Amino acid sequence: MLIAETQAPVSSATQLRMSDLISALSYALDLTEGQPMGHAVKCCLLSMRLADILNLSVQDKCDLYYATLLKDAGCSSNAARMYEILGGDERKAKQEVKSTDWTKVSFEGLEYLLRNVMPGRSRLERVFAIASVATNRDAQTRELIDLRCDRGAQIAKKIGFSESTTAAIYSLDEHWNGRGFPAGRKAQDIPLFSRIMNLCQTLELFVTLNGVSDGFQVLRDRSGSWFDPQLVRAVVELEKDTELWNLVEQDRVREAVMEMEPISVSLYADEAKLDNVCEAFANIIDIKSPYTHSHSRGVTSIAVAICQRLALPEDQVTLVRRAALLHDIGKLSLPNNILDKAGKLTAAEWETVRLHPYYTQRILERIRGFQDLAFLASSHHERLDGSGYFRNLRAAQISPGARAIAVADVYDALSSKRPYRGALAKGEVFKIMAADVPHALDGDCFAALKSLDLTNSN
Ligand SMILES: [Fe+2]
Ligand SMILES: [Fe+2]
Repeated sequence: MLIAETQAPVSSATQLRMSDLISALSYALDLTEGQPMGHAVKCCLLSMRLADILNLSVQDKCDLYYATLLKDAGCSSNAARMYEILGGDERKAKQEVKSTDWTKVSFEGLEYLLRNVMPGRSRLERVFAIASVATNRDAQTRELIDLRCDRGAQIAKKIGFSESTTAAIYSLDEHWNGRGFPAGRKAQDIPLFSRIMNLCQTLELFVTLNGVSDGFQVLRDRSGSWFDPQLVRAVVELEKDTELWNLVEQDRVREAVMEMEPISVSLYADEAKLDNVCEAFANIIDIKSPYTHSHSRGVTSIAVAICQRLALPEDQVTLVRRAALLHDIGKLSLPNNILDKAGKLTAAEWETVRLHPYYTQRILERIRGFQDLAFLASSHHERLDGSGYFRNLRAAQISPGARAIAVADVYDALSSKRPYRGALAKGEVFKIMAADVPHALDGDCFAALKSLDLTNSN
């Protein structure tokens, strides 16, 4: 369980439920993992149904519920390294790694490498790269999964989830036969929740790809190798549950999963917890690329300082702080071969980049009471003269808070190292920004920025 003091009466209409917050944010983790949005939520639905069959206690169900929603919390931490190893779209590779039995040296494994290592590069470069990936496969797989598991568990812990939730996330990729990662744990030595989650995520993936009967066939095929045979026997009763599989197909699946939260321990996000979750997700966003390792936190501290200089009301400053922490959550949809690209982006790549505030809006707007925050966060690339993206808003539609975040965002981006240039000095950054003031960037926010002590901003 999270913490007892965050519990509140279920009838409380104004409070934000943790299940609402975390299930919505899990859509961002799906994007990073190369999965369709809703993957983690559907896994959670399946894990709760399996928990019912297994007669788990309410407390166990609660721990499993949040572990499943946050199972991919560490996914952004290995994205840059995966791009470094494969040289291609790491999200596509991550998607395929789940549908391929990568523990076997097989034709299937070779096909995976052919599709994902340095696509678009010369034949010779690809042959060398594939040989290197194949030779170092075990060590690299261990490194990548270790990064992911460790980071995911740390994030869940930072948010305040229990030891069994964090342990379940850490051992998600272990296999019943001991050939999984990161520790090669075997059978009952693998935490039960990890065994349930691994089974449910594979079932969800194959049901989405090829239908219900194929999903269950994969479970039977991998029973005793990937999966606990007892769990496979227990879960088969869901195969004929047409109501369940209809629900999985529907848009309201997230609402259904929110309703399934083990109710006697229903968790609420008070102000401090909400800040904690925003900070944890800012971390997930920043760690995706070595070039943005402190971007969300940097933008947040500058935007808040600008708002305070402009004497905005306290509640607006709080909104700006949370929006700034989450402003680039849509960037989790971008592959690292675009994010970390050393050269000029192609027109198509640039179009993909321009979509990230749209995803920020789509992820955050699902949360009850987050409409203002979603709009604010997703407006950070808008410009006063309508030249920004993705809505091409104009001055009258851009709030003071959004203007402050935009100025802070440009400052932090220019004064940080990028794949194609070094970090720029403060004077040079101000000179570049001044050319956009006041027609594109707000003059008051820019003046406030220049008055700040920016020595520790990044
Ligand atoms: Fe952005
Ligand atoms: Fe940004």
